[in-house]
Amino acid sequence: MAGITLRVEDLATHFFTKGGLIKAVDGVSFTVHRGEIMGLVGESGSGKSVTGFSIIGLVDQPGRVVGGRLLFNGEDLLNKSEDEMRTLRGNRIAMIFQDPMMTLNPVLRIDTQMIEAVLAHQNVAKDKARRMARDALGQVGIASPDERLKAYPHQFSGGMRQRVAIATALLNKPDLIIADEPTTALDVTIQGQILHEVKNLCRQTGTALIWITHDLAVIAGLADHVSVMYAGRVVEDGPVDDVLDRPLHPYSVGLLESVPSRNRRGQRLSQIPGMTPSLLNLPAGCAFKARCPRAGDDCAALPEITAPAPDRQVRCFRPHFEDAA
Ligand SMILES: Nc1ncnc2c1ncn2[C@@H]1O[C@H](COP(=O)(O)OP(=O)(O)OP(=O)(O)O)[C@@H](O)[C@H]1O
Ligand code: SF4
Ligand SMILES: [Mg+2]
Repeated sequence: MAGITLRVEDLATHFFTKGGLIKAVDGVSFTVHRGEIMGLVGESGSGKSVTGFSIIGLVDQPGRVVGGRLLFNGEDLLNKSEDEMRTLRGNRIAMIFQDPMMTLNPVLRIDTQMIEAVLAHQNVAKDKARRMARDALGQVGIASPDERLKAYPHQFSGGMRQRVAIATALLNKPDLIIADEPTTALDVTIQGQILHEVKNLCRQTGTALIWITHDLAVIAGLADHVSVMYAGRVVEDGPVDDVLDRPLHPYSVGLLESVPSRNRRGQRLSQIPGMTPSLLNLPAGCAFKARCPRAGDDCAALPEITAPAPDRQVRCFRPHFEDAA
């Protein structure tokens, strides 16, 4: 387990709704190493956020983790009590949400809440906590942090507010940060900038980062490895450059063809035809079957994860790998 911060093994999180059983996460596995940046990518409804919430132990009713292991520094988070999880959250594991106001309190000054976040988990004097808050703001690119500390969240722009939320997440130098599309509301350049800054901080502190996004372009060049999710399952996993240059799964190929920045100017963007299937009545066999240009009779069965090359994993009977061979 040396160097491994989090190993998710066969995670299953299901929602027991009045309308029926929704297998939002159904047998997800991946590993994140110390200081590593992992991209968790997939269309809306593929189970990315539910995976994140499962890890921090905040799955809402009627949802429940029904199987698997979440090995964090070698210990299964699923065996922790609610008290133990509360201590881990904001301290060893932090989550950054799409809406920074999920982290920030609108009626408190930034310094008050950041200092509180430090004092809740570290035995330091208040002025030391204040210096740590100031430094954290500086690290995420906020100018004149001493002055900004005295402001209230509403006095910041959306992008600045998100930077404050990220700085707050970094305060206690957690071992793991889960960032759930924290920058989608922002301009692409600013998204890249923020991810770049967060990456540098993670490299310095050894913090592992799971960056959740539906946009492959955002993580290109910034993540180390990527897991692609489709309908509650990981369908492809590998080093980010390999997956982007030589995707194996037909869904990854479709996702890449629909990324604007990877298309030549003037060329029409292709969209993956069809809709994400409803998780309430997933078809038998491969969940991507109805949309897949490579589908054949064998795809009526459920493909298992295979490793066609070192470090590469794919859940498909007819991966693009065969083309190259
Ligand atoms: N509270 C809930 N009750 C019932 N089903 C839920 C609930 N939350 C999530 N789900 C189910 O889990 C699926 C996956 O949801 P999740 O939020 O993880 O998707 P996502 O990949 O994060 O999508 P997005 O990109 O839109 O954020 C949803 O499509 C939905 O069917
Ligand atoms: S298993 Fe078949 S349907 Fe599924 S992605 Fe692969 S080729 Fe397409
Ligand atoms: Mg989500």
